[in-house]
Amino acid sequence: MILSIESSCDDSAIAITDIKTKKLIFHKKISQIEHSVYGGVVPELASRLHAKALPLIFEDTKEYFNQLKAVAVTNEPGLSVTLMEGVMMAKAIALALDIPLISINHLKGHIYSLFIEKEEIFPQLVLLVSGGHTQVIEANSYSEMNLLANTLDDSFGESFDKVSKMLGLGYPGGSIIENLAKDGDENRFSFPIPLSQSPKLAFSFSGLKNAVRLEIESLKELSLQDKRDISASFQKSASTHILQKVKKVFKNREVENFAIVGGASANLYLREKIKNLCNQFNIKLYLSELKFCSDNSAMIGRLALEKYKRGEIINDLNLEINPRFKSF
Ligand code: KG4
Ligand code: ZN
Repeated sequence: MILSIESSCDDSAIAITDIKTKKLIFHKKISQIEHSVYGGVVPELASRLHAKALPLIFEDTKEYFNQLKAVAVTNEPGLSVTLMEGVMMAKAIALALDIPLISINHLKGHIYSLFIEKEEIFPQLVLLVSGGHTQVIEANSYSEMNLLANTLDDSFGESFDKVSKMLGLGYPGGSIIENLAKDGDENRFSFPIPLSQSPKLAFSFSGLKNAVRLEIESLKELSLQDKRDISASFQKSASTHILQKVKKVFKNREVENFAIVGGASANLYLREKIKNLCNQFNIKLYLSELKFCSDNSAMIGRLALEKYKRGEIINDLNLEINPRFKSF
């Protein structure tokens, strides 16, 4: 069995995955709701909360200690002070149980959320939409993943968080905005669709966010219906932007399988639009289970199985963190 740890942002999670059967034996996550009042993740607070939550979850895995063959941990990308918590814990476990470490790229982990308790399916063209990243990735195999498109500024999920904050609502904003939008008029405000005239394969959400800010300022007193309409109109523009760029990719290359992963892939509005687009192009759509869209350690464990199989393990304690995304 492999024990896997995730602490790259505001979720403390530990999983245990069976090496032979790929079965998820144990999975527990504590999400830090404490950031809600600040409208975003406060790194120092997140770090302290990981230090509290991770040992508590770890205690529940005692019965598996003598069956562990390796300990996997997210070491990139993410918040440095929170990555450090998971990595320090993984090192202590590796030392105490005399087992190797496995380093995990969080974004590649999100891709492997598609394959939890399943076989891998490649090639995949992947849309990764999370709080930290918005990317289109050509994932041909475990070892061949290329970045095709990236965001120039904010990420898709982050823009939901910021709109939620501007509306005086909580964090994380994704599900709050999506829920408000259900009863809103998406055509009341015509927010711009970012980069719609640009041939560039890239994403941008900061201009849209500013357009929403200006609208909120001009309305002054916001009724609940105003908030619903703003949420719906914003969600429509943000999703249309994603749709336009994905359509561009579909037009320019042969795509067999398409997948959406990451925390914001839980957005049902986006899922529905992408589903229709895939049908139009006769492309098979893959989605993670809703519970594995946001950060979790089951996906870290699933990717760890592949690394373990290939002998990509660290036998000393030489493992560093990389807060910024470099490559897959
Ligand atoms: O993957 P994730 O858990 O953490 C990162 O790796 O960043 O993604 C969290 C992000 C947050 O920005 C959150 O607001 C967004 O995903 N999110 C959503 C939805 N659920 C979560 N965004 C839009 N619609 C949602 N339903
Ligand atoms: Zn994530």
